[in-house]
Amino acid sequence: MKDLSVTVGSLTLKNPIVAAGGPLAGTAQHIRDCVDAGFGAVVTKTTSTPWFLKRYPRPYYRLLDYKKDSSDPFYVPDTYTWMHREHNSVYPPLNFARIIEQVSGYAKERHCALIGSYSARGIDEWSEIALAYEKAGCDALEINFCCPFPPEGLVKNPEEAHVGIYFTRNPEAGAEVLRRLRSIVKLPLFVKISPDGGEFGQLAQVFAAAGADGVTMFANNKVVRVDIETGKPVVYGPAPGTGPWIKAFSLRWTAEVTARTNIAVMGNRGATTWQDAIEFLMAGASAVQYCTPIMLRGLGYVRVLLDGIAGYMERRRFDSIADFQGMAVKQLYSNQDLIDKVKALYGEVDHGKCIGCRRCRDVCWYDAIHVARKAVIKKKNCAGCSLCSQVCPVNAIQMHERDNDLEHFQALASAHPELAPEDFFPKEAGQ
Ligand SMILES: Cc1cc2nc3c(=O)[nH]c(=O)nc-3n(C[C@H](O)[C@H](O)[C@H](O)COP(=O)(O)O)c2cc1C
Ligand code: SF4
Ligand code: SF4
Repeated sequence: MKDLSVTVGSLTLKNPIVAAGGPLAGTAQHIRDCVDAGFGAVVTKTTSTPWFLKRYPRPYYRLLDYKKDSSDPFYVPDTYTWMHREHNSVYPPLNFARIIEQVSGYAKERHCALIGSYSARGIDEWSEIALAYEKAGCDALEINFCCPFPPEGLVKNPEEAHVGIYFTRNPEAGAEVLRRLRSIVKLPLFVKISPDGGEFGQLAQVFAAAGADGVTMFANNKVVRVDIETGKPVVYGPAPGTGPWIKAFSLRWTAEVTARTNIAVMGNRGATTWQDAIEFLMAGASAVQYCTPIMLRGLGYVRVLLDGIAGYMERRRFDSIADFQGMAVKQLYSNQDLIDKVKALYGEVDHGKCIGCRRCRDVCWYDAIHVARKAVIKKKNCAGCSLCSQVCPVNAIQMHERDNDLEHFQALASAHPELAPEDFFPKEAGQ
């Protein structure tokens, strides 16, 4: 049995797979079901007090580019775009605390951490709900600074709009909330951030300095898709979106924030498979949250994720998550490293394998490939981008390191050598 436990700030979880805040954990029974499914932690549905976050618009989910398979009703494609309209829990925060009270013992007995999510307006409301959630048995709080529905046009008093995403956009106001919460509750505090913010390393530092144990990156932000038959924006206009396509963005900030700060990161948005969890952990995340992948596949998928991670650790002979957590962060290259350590490449065709299909020539934007019966790469023109080798259907192209940087610069400028910087083509002595 592999040890999948992780430390997330001051919280220890039995495994790194966390139910992200949303419909997975909006009722007492659903929270118990998440606990039974094996999650290391469950973030509850966000609660808040503004009327516009509880009532409108009605929940509506829309899958785009979602390829189905009539022979397998449970097939879920590798990629798609998810869009939705759904706001916060209909249950007011202090009432939701009673739901938490009903299930917190159940979760504790099964070693599943319960993380209460909420958003509030005004420091007193933030405090009152935090105390209620702590008393109800939460193991941590996820402070919602991310809800992407600022109520433009709905409220008269601008202060009423100071909820959710307002605090990602105004981190000093968020820090003030955190400082107060840190002084009144003992629970670990995680801040869920919107990707509609600015520089997330700085943001995380501001929140850490104000008392946050960690950040959850990211919630969904609003995106637009258009139905080209009707010209109408899908789901009425900008709406929260997610999907496997956004994973690289979330990973980028997970890696940068963990490289530059000591704050714990729960990776979120775009993680779909167990391999994605490994990627997030290697990129420095301490745990990984999943929402829509579970909504689409059901709670049985949690076991698939956990078995996948355990199997990977078995194969790679890792005894614990700590053996590989942050592995990629340690290997991020600086700009100087890119100059000093990365060698230029060039491609070479294995004529024994080449079938003369010309695919490589199509993707060579440096005019280095000529194909008669077989492909030939002109080394003096090859920029070393490696695209040809990746699209070649029979893997006939190998990339090699150049031992001469000057030749590489000359290849880059080979179309207009007369216009290249002088030191690219140094004159021979006596010329
Ligand atoms: C229908 C729906 C409702 C959501 N409600 C909440 C919520 O109440 N609180 C919250 O913090 N995030 C909420 N989210 C965002 C998810 O927790 C998660 O951050 C987001 O979907 C990205 O993760 P994913 O790619 O695994 O779905 C919701 C997401 C969906 C799809
Ligand atoms: S893509 Fe591969 S097989 Fe096709 S011409 Fe180029 S090297 Fe030959
Ligand atoms: S590596 Fe890039 S530049 Fe060189 S031949 Fe292939 S596609 Fe062209």
